[in-house]
Order: sequence, then C-alpha cells, then structure tokens
Amino acid sequence: MGKLKVGIIGSGGISTVHMDGYNLLASKGEVEVVAACDIDEEKVKRYVKKYNIPRYYTDCREMMAKEELDLVSVCTWNSAHKDCTIVALRGGANVICEKPMALNAVEAQEMLDVAKETGKLLQVGFVRRFGNDADLVKKFIKGGTIGDIYYAKATYLRRDGCPGGWFGDKAYSGGGPLIDLGVHVIDLVRYLAGNPLPVEAFGVTYDNLGCGRAEGGDVAWGNPRGKFEFSVEDFAAAMVKFDNGLTLNVEASFNLNLKEDGGNIELFGTKAGINLSPSLEIYTDMAGQYVNVTPTGETALSFSGLFEREIEGFYNAALGKEPCRAPGEDGVVLMKILDAIYESARVGHSVQIK
Ligand SMILES: NC(=O)c1ccc[n+]([C@@H]2O[C@H](COP(=O)([O-])OP(=O)(O)OC[C@H]3O[C@@H](n4cnc5c(N)ncnc54)[C@H](O)[C@@H]3O)[C@@H](O)[C@H]2O)c1
Repeated sequence: MGKLKVGIIGSGGISTVHMDGYNLLASKGEVEVVAACDIDEEKVKRYVKKYNIPRYYTDCREMMAKEELDLVSVCTWNSAHKDCTIVALRGGANVICEKPMALNAVEAQEMLDVAKETGKLLQVGFVRRFGNDADLVKKFIKGGTIGDIYYAKATYLRRDGCPGGWFGDKAYSGGGPLIDLGVHVIDLVRYLAGNPLPVEAFGVTYDNLGCGRAEGGDVAWGNPRGKFEFSVEDFAAAMVKFDNGLTLNVEASFNLNLKEDGGNIELFGTKAGINLSPSLEIYTDMAGQYVNVTPTGETALSFSGLFEREIEGFYNAALGKEPCRAPGEDGVVLMKILDAIYESARVGHSVQIK
C-alpha cells in the first residue's frame, strides 16, 4: 500500500505537534503531508514553508475538493471544529479533531452522525489517553489492584494562566477553563474508569478574576486579545455522577487565588487509591499495615513522544490495525457532561444527563 496522504486544517500551536507525529510516520515511509489550510493566508504560507508541505489553502472545502486525503487533522479554534470535520469526512478523509470535540453536544453528535454515514473514522484529540501514566494506571486497574472505583478527584488549575485571544471568547471557544482544561481530566477519569456514562451533574462557574491580574499574566502565551472579548468563566467546579456509581469531583481554572498551578487525578477504589501527579502512587494496606506503593520506572506523565503516540494511534486505527483509543462517541459523551455542568451553573441546581 502507498503512503497515506495527510492534510492539516488550522496551522496554529497544536498543529505543530500533530506535524511531529506525521513527520515521524513520514520518516518510516507511511504518510506524506500534502496540504495545509488556514483562514489566515500569511500564517499558512509560513507553515507550509517551514514544514515543506507542497500546497496550501485558505478554505478547507477547496482543499478537500482538490486533494485526495486519507487523514486530516482538525486543529482550528473550537467553533470551527464541526464544519471543518464534516467537510473533511464528506471529502473522504478519516479525521482527528482536537479537543473539545465541538462547542456543544448537538454539534458533536452531528459530526459523529456524518462519520457513521460516511464510514470514516472520527477520533477526538484526547491525548492524555495515550499517556504513559494512563497505560500504567490501566494496568493496575485491570490487574484488580484498585478494586471498584467509586470516587475520583480531577483538577487542572492555573493561578494566572488565561490564554487570552479566542480561548477567552465564548463565541469561538464555547467556554473557559472547563471546556479547555477540564475536558482533558474529565475524559481521562472516564477512560481509566472504563468509560461509564454520565447521569447527572451539579456545576458552578465564576468569572470573578477575569483574564489575568498580575502584570504580564494577561496573555499567558503571548496571544493578543485582538478582536476577541473575554466572555467565559475563569473558574469552574462540578460533581458528576456516572451510571456505574462513580462520582467525579472536578475543578478547572484560568485564574484562581491558589499557591501554584497544578493538576492531578485521584481514583479511590474498594481495594486501593491511586494518585497520578506529580508521580504515580498507590495507597492500600498489606498484612494489616497501610502502605504507599511507588511503581519503579518512569511513572510521571511524559510529554516526550505523547502526541506522536496519539497520531500513530490515529494512523493505525484508520487502517484498522488497532481499535481507536479516543473515538467520536466518547467526544459526544464528554460534550454532554460539559453542557450539563454549564447548564447546572446557569440554573443553580443539578441537571440530568441523557
Ligand atoms: N490536545 C491538547 O493538549 C491541546 C493543546 C492546545 C490546544 N488544543 C486545541 O487545539 C485547537 C487549536 O488550538 P491552538 O492553540 O492551536 O490555537 P491557535 O489559535 O494557535 O490556532 C488555531 C488556528 O485555526 C485557524 N482557523 C480558525 N478557523 C479556521 C477554519 N475555518 N479553517 C482553517 N483554519 C481555521 C486560525 O486561523 C488559527 O491559525 C483548539 O481546539 C484547542 O482546544 C489542544
């Protein structure tokens, strides 16, 4: 079989790590990146030059009409995920769409419906599912070390880390730290716990601190506000209940008066508890004695090779060599959870999830 042809939609920050993954596959003769697209022409021109990509476009419809692509990465801001993904699927490509899958569950379901109709793969950019730490936790869960997991805590907290730009503009992002950061840890808990379905959520959101207070904190990644308005929450917290009895407590912030940035996942089971960050530890008892167990080897999440594993997984799943680790179905479920948390915060009581 020849090399699979790849196209990139959205040539911003995250697309560069997708390119790392495709470049690794290209070095093994498995793919070639033939086109990239961005609505910002100057930006995409620089991008194709940097990566030696033969052609560029400013409209993904034109790209899909003119190219015969097997794999497409959708790396646009969130509000363009739905349209770009549907165009790419209808154009005959398998798609990996960055997280969050869309602005809401209705959009996400529409994308999944098109994937099913066209028979193409739709993977969501839940990169943490490809982490070395996730693999290790899965091993302990599968081996029965943890028992039944009934409670989980997940945090992704920044003291002064508002990305600014479109990330803070609800029309482009769909929300603040919950949809941007919380999405990663909520999904990871679901994945580790065997993908239970959500039944109910109670959430709160606040916008007390806005987008940065201390000098320089306004634009965490030098992303200017430009035309974008800051219109999202700066902090969100929620309890989510799942159909297998698991309850998740999640917190995410761009701005919060805490000592330092941090993120962690803790799972509590009938036989042991497990803590992911800063490195993996298991809390249990042996011979009537409480013990804290530290596995040998590298246990902290390593970003080295992480996105390369995600893109390789996408390539393998598209070829049917392995099951997709982050299918569109899980993207839809995640959007239902986020929708319910935002709705709960709006109405002031818990919300059922169907
Ligand atoms: N997996 C992760 O850890 C991770 C990390 C960062 C960002 N992301 C996600 O990746 C996506 C992009 O984030 P980013 O940081 O690269 O943003 P970015 O602003 O750097 O890049 C987004 C690009 O999309 C382009 N774009 C917007 N609409 C388009 C359209 N219709 N067609 C073509 N191009 C279009 C913009 O011009 C911009 O260049 C977001 O969904 C974000 O949530 C994921």
